[in-house]
Amino acid sequence: MRIISLQPSGDLTLSTDAIKPSPRPNHILVRVKAFAVNRQDLKTGPSVKDAGVECVGSVEDTGGVKGLRVGATVAVLSFGEGGLWKDYCLVPAKCVIPLQVSPPTPGSPLDPATWAKLAAIPLTFLTAFGILDNLDLRKHDRLLIRGGTSSIGLTIATVAKALGAVVAATTRDPTKAPNLSENGADFVILEREGGIKDDVRMMFASKETFSSTDELSTPTLSTTRINDSAGADKCVDLLGVGTVQDSLLALKSPGGICCLAGTLGGSEPTTFNPMKDIPSGVYLTTFAVDRVDMGRVPLQEIVDRVLERGEYRLNLDRIFGLEDLDKVKDYVEGNKARGKVVVVLPNEL
Ligand SMILES: NC(=O)c1ccc[n+]([C@@H]2O[C@H](COP(=O)([O-])OP(=O)(O)OC[C@H]3O[C@@H](n4cnc5c(N)ncnc54)[C@H](OP(=O)(O)O)[C@@H]3O)[C@@H](O)[C@H]2O)c1
Repeated sequence: MRIISLQPSGDLTLSTDAIKPSPRPNHILVRVKAFAVNRQDLKTGPSVKDAGVECVGSVEDTGGVKGLRVGATVAVLSFGEGGLWKDYCLVPAKCVIPLQVSPPTPGSPLDPATWAKLAAIPLTFLTAFGILDNLDLRKHDRLLIRGGTSSIGLTIATVAKALGAVVAATTRDPTKAPNLSENGADFVILEREGGIKDDVRMMFASKETFSSTDELSTPTLSTTRINDSAGADKCVDLLGVGTVQDSLLALKSPGGICCLAGTLGGSEPTTFNPMKDIPSGVYLTTFAVDRVDMGRVPLQEIVDRVLERGEYRLNLDRIFGLEDLDKVKDYVEGNKARGKVVVVLPNEL
């Protein structure tokens, strides 16, 4: 069977002579149909590693686990060492989430396009929901998303908008502004040297909000009064510790909440000093999807809302085949993607 590895150089390589895993009690053998490529998947280490933390596919062997049938559609999330980018993966039952998904034609198997859409959902939507849950997002909350054009950022925008929030999202690239607006951002803010806290505090100077997605919003100090309640109610910072202080200062006080949940800008500097850098009355939290109990996540509900009811926008940017594996890394790390990148596995060799 085929298996994809990540080399220390960053190259993704395909081997075709791996041995198909044998069934094992309480483990599910899954025939992998498609998987999403997450930025985190491409982080190299000192040695070669099997790549991939999520995939979708169908059950080949249930390992005796009750309530699961051979042929069932499943999502797999596994943050262990094994890697899931292969024809077959054998994983503990706790990593497998059964799903009901309608094929385009009733009674037929799922087609590659549906597998691709399904693959774009699990990790990204569970992360988005986890972050919004930690932020206790409420209707009419003014939410700031830093790193708004990332897959996670776009997903947070579409879900937050559907929940009735007012959304401001950031990018470094003005050409991506329409992408943010399409996903529910009411305001687009350009990331810049020195931070964006003043832009946000002026944009959200009072609870009165206005909606303009025609142009990048760049309000000036002279036109908007800054008061104590100025700022966003909630913020998700996907850029990292380098921007988190600026994010905290962009929040209203008291009561603003920031969730630090990404490292797009790097994990340095580490000089962040909580006592000094968290304003009084403002709260800082985090979220990590790999600590979530997969047995309790509402993934079916999310899949229904995305695929069946169209309540949340699915940002599936591009589907790669195995023959294009060498292009995937550059596409993701070169910031060319405008949403999820997925690989669909053609038939087994
Ligand atoms: N907490 C969790 O449980 C969890 C789970 C999954 C992922 N994450 C994290 O969430 C973040 C987003 O992941 P993703 O897979 O959605 O990313 P992604 O789709 O690959 O993000 C791509 C975007 O990141 C922005 N970006 C790249 N380098 C940047 C930099 N140096 N400074 C500012 N922006 C930069 C670019 O936006 P512009 O060009 O528009 O600026 C680019 O379009 C990552 O840090 C990832 O590790 C966290």
